[in-house]
Amino acid sequence: ATTEIYTLSLHDALPICNFINHKSPIPKTPIAFAFDIDGVLLHSKNPIPKAIETLKYLKTNKIPFILLTNGGGYTEKIRLDLLNSLLSNTNIEIDQLVQSHTPMKYLTNKFNNVLVIGGIDPFTRDAAINYGFKKVLRPIDLVKENPNIWPFVKYSKEEIDKYSISFNINEPIDAIMVFNDPRDMGTDLQIILDLLCSKNGLIGTKRDYISNKPSIPIIFSNNDLLWSANYKIPRFGQGAFRIAIRELYKELNNGNELNDTVYGKPQIESYAFADKVLIDYWRKLNNLKSIGSELTFLQSYSNEYFDNVVMVGDNPKSDIAGGNNFGWETALVKTGVYKDGDFEIDRNLAKPTLGVFNDVYDAVMQSIEKVRK
Ligand code: G3P
Ligand code: MG
Repeated sequence: ATTEIYTLSLHDALPICNFINHKSPIPKTPIAFAFDIDGVLLHSKNPIPKAIETLKYLKTNKIPFILLTNGGGYTEKIRLDLLNSLLSNTNIEIDQLVQSHTPMKYLTNKFNNVLVIGGIDPFTRDAAINYGFKKVLRPIDLVKENPNIWPFVKYSKEEIDKYSISFNINEPIDAIMVFNDPRDMGTDLQIILDLLCSKNGLIGTKRDYISNKPSIPIIFSNNDLLWSANYKIPRFGQGAFRIAIRELYKELNNGNELNDTVYGKPQIESYAFADKVLIDYWRKLNNLKSIGSELTFLQSYSNEYFDNVVMVGDNPKSDIAGGNNFGWETALVKTGVYKDGDFEIDRNLAKPTLGVFNDVYDAVMQSIEKVRK
């Protein structure tokens, strides 16, 4: 018989607190920004022209902004240090940064023993430990425990000795969380599909039934099919990895579609979380304490503080669709995934409310002009 396996719906994972009537104690300010990173500010480690100038202009003119990226794989602190060094010390602060998995810190009250996928050892494990997950496993640990888990593993002996930890193979894994893009997709796919079809999360086992419900939940931190890296055309992102996992699951479960969970842009949870981060950052700049968790998670409160919040992104399917859906203004730049002509190819592509701009500098300056009118 197929036992009902607990899977995670988008809405029951994050703290939905009782709505308390919230009024801002400070006068409204005209505009605030949320910036996507890859394809807007950076191409991998290379600043996009005028990105640094734009951020410095906003800091000088005390216009509040946050960074909202589907990137991840590091603690927010390490990622922040990387960003500040790449963006010539524009002095971005940690409470301005939302990564793909940042809201997933609220899952520590649901799962203890987690397998975290993607990114580079030891940074991704450190990010999950930093959120408070009690036991954080990585594929490298399972490879060390049994190198035959995938006949073609790519980890070196040095890496295994340096980054793997021992664990109790008889202790079931509670959930799989994908924090960033895989570095050894073969190993990751095999281990993930094993666990999704295991006996209640026990490594090296196989359940004796098929189902659309995985044996343990899998949570992706974004669904980007493509992203703008350092190559002349966009590269596959975590969404491509998810398609591979879903197709393999379907093959192994007689056509049953995998019941999984996705965060990151364009999901409303990520925007609601970012909305609160933006408010808290602005309150801090005005010497007010954090708004705390008194807000209903899935609602925007930034209109209490700002006449306009503008999401500046390069990907219509994540940045623009998510921003529009959440009720922010949106500005699309041509320095990343989006290319002229895309709206003619795909008429359902989300369109930016403020327009398409050559780069982040034009997007910011013209958005400020537009909202001033
Ligand atoms: O892995 C990062 C990629 O998916 C997109 O990142 O900053 O454009 O949301 P970003
Ligand atoms: Mg981007």
